[in-house]
Amino acid sequence: MKNDDSLLYKIEELVFSYSLGKQQIEAIRGLNINIPRSSLVTISGPSGSGKSTLLNILGLIEPVQNGTVLFQNEDIGQMDEKRKNQTRKFQIGFIFQQFHLIPVLTAEENVRYFLSRQKLPQNEIKERTEDSLQSVGLWEHRMKKPSQLSGGQKQRVAIARAIAKQPAVIIGDEPTASLDQKTGQEIMEILAELVAKNKSSVILTTHDSMVQSYASQNFHLQDGRLVDELCKRRG
Ligand SMILES: Nc1ncnc2c1ncn2[C@@H]1O[C@H](COP(=O)(O)OP(=O)(O)O)[C@@H](O)[C@H]1O
Ligand SMILES: [Mg+2]
Repeated sequence: MKNDDSLLYKIEELVFSYSLGKQQIEAIRGLNINIPRSSLVTISGPSGSGKSTLLNILGLIEPVQNGTVLFQNEDIGQMDEKRKNQTRKFQIGFIFQQFHLIPVLTAEENVRYFLSRQKLPQNEIKERTEDSLQSVGLWEHRMKKPSQLSGGQKQRVAIARAIAKQPAVIIGDEPTASLDQKTGQEIMEILAELVAKNKSSVILTTHDSMVQSYASQNFHLQDGRLVDELCKRRG
């Protein structure tokens, strides 16, 4: 496959099945998708259409079984476990529907803990933690534990934790699904601003047309296939 520096991911003829006993469940049935850098894209589709499976492949959580996926021109199907772990740790930030914060740690410690695993110098960890909590508007709540924060605030901590890594991409599986519409919108504003300001890349799965309205491109899946690709230029 030819390299293309404008692309974050290049997906060709991707196929993925789960084995359930003797049964094979085909979750992805031949996908061809190009995901550009420095953009916010969404993956939509009905329940069971393969959105989470695709996202898990892009996040190096599920393997490439068939077909090819290039991440920043590197074939992820050819990466060994060590390379995959490194890539996940340094290049990919994750956010989740249920936030996945560590309950006994404060907001600040949640961000810091993830950075300390990257073995960065102390001053760098301090700076990145502060910058990322500031950029999601949560610096004044840094001493609070998740139980003292609202759903929207928890998701902001999770976003701060993801961006503090300075990853090539932030991946989120329905990150606004457990929030009310207004709070979801605030989360989308933060993510959209990250993309506009820092040239970050964000890939989200969603059911929600509000979330899709923030995307420059939406890929609609049905039964593991791409059935619609919507491109939009945002002003
Ligand atoms: N761990 C699993 N084991 C077996 N089948 C699975 C598993 N995860 C998902 N599937 C099946 O794969 C298909 C795609 O699922 P998924 O990627 O979760 O879709 P979506 O996120 O769009 O709801 C569905 O038929 C689902 O039941
Ligand atoms: Mg899903």
